[in-house]
Amino acid sequence: MAAAAETHVYDANLHSGADLQAFFEGDNLVTATRFFRNRAMYLDLEQVLIPMLMQGPARASRRLRVWSAGCSDGREAYSLAMSTHRGLSRNNGSGWDWQVRGSDLSRPQIAKARAGVYVVTEHDQDAVDDYGEYFESAGNKGLQVAERIRAHIQFEVEDIIAYQPGEPVDILVCSLVVLYYEQEYQKEIIRKLISRVRPGGFFHVTPVSKRWLLSEDHHRTAGSSGAFFQRSSQAGGQDGGFSRNG
Ligand SMILES: C[S@@+](CC[C@H](N)C(=O)[O-])C[C@H]1O[C@@H](n2cnc3c(N)ncnc32)[C@H](O)[C@@H]1O
Repeated sequence: MAAAAETHVYDANLHSGADLQAFFEGDNLVTATRFFRNRAMYLDLEQVLIPMLMQGPARASRRLRVWSAGCSDGREAYSLAMSTHRGLSRNNGSGWDWQVRGSDLSRPQIAKARAGVYVVTEHDQDAVDDYGEYFESAGNKGLQVAERIRAHIQFEVEDIIAYQPGEPVDILVCSLVVLYYEQEYQKEIIRKLISRVRPGGFFHVTPVSKRWLLSEDHHRTAGSSGAFFQRSSQAGGQDGGFSRNG
């Protein structure tokens, strides 16, 4: 019997209608993360985005909200937090109210993220050396992210497909998550993610066609490596929820 029509189809290993949570909790793909994976992106955040936000949309409120969507075991969210802290400190923004939110579909990954203790891999080592002031020894368990960073992070189990309106974010990073979904469906997911970014805020989503983002009226970020796009300052865009079935 033919399977019922689904709004989305998963990666080639998965059949239509497969249980997303079981897949991401059971498959070792979810461990494919690291601290500061894309160094140019973090430098853009510190040196370009934060100064622009401080002079522009966030100036009056002195608040910054950052979201790592599909943060896996938390290393990406902590990297964003360390860069945000550094960017603010270097621009006289030490007193600002800032928060990073890390979300992932996988409960075990979010449990690791909340613990914030990591065995540092060879891929992580250079970055960890450069941001050493934000780590503390956890003895033979490795390194723990320092409390002054952890105090600004919250982690949640959340499916990016289950759209929920919430507080707009200034910066969104969704790296290597939408690739699990059928290409046409990726656009729907990305549009919904971007709708959570405040107009004039910034996002980094991979993989994505830059030409398509430009056609959606988003902009390249001047003076940056190109890792981030800026959301159109028009608040428009499509609204409404995702539906899993048709
Ligand atoms: C390859 S990891 C990428 C981790 C991190 N973003 C990075 O770039 O280092 C992909 C992550 O996406 C998560 N994921 C996949 N589909 C998701 C969904 N619908 N909602 C939330 N997280 C999802 C998986 O659980 C996994 O942790």
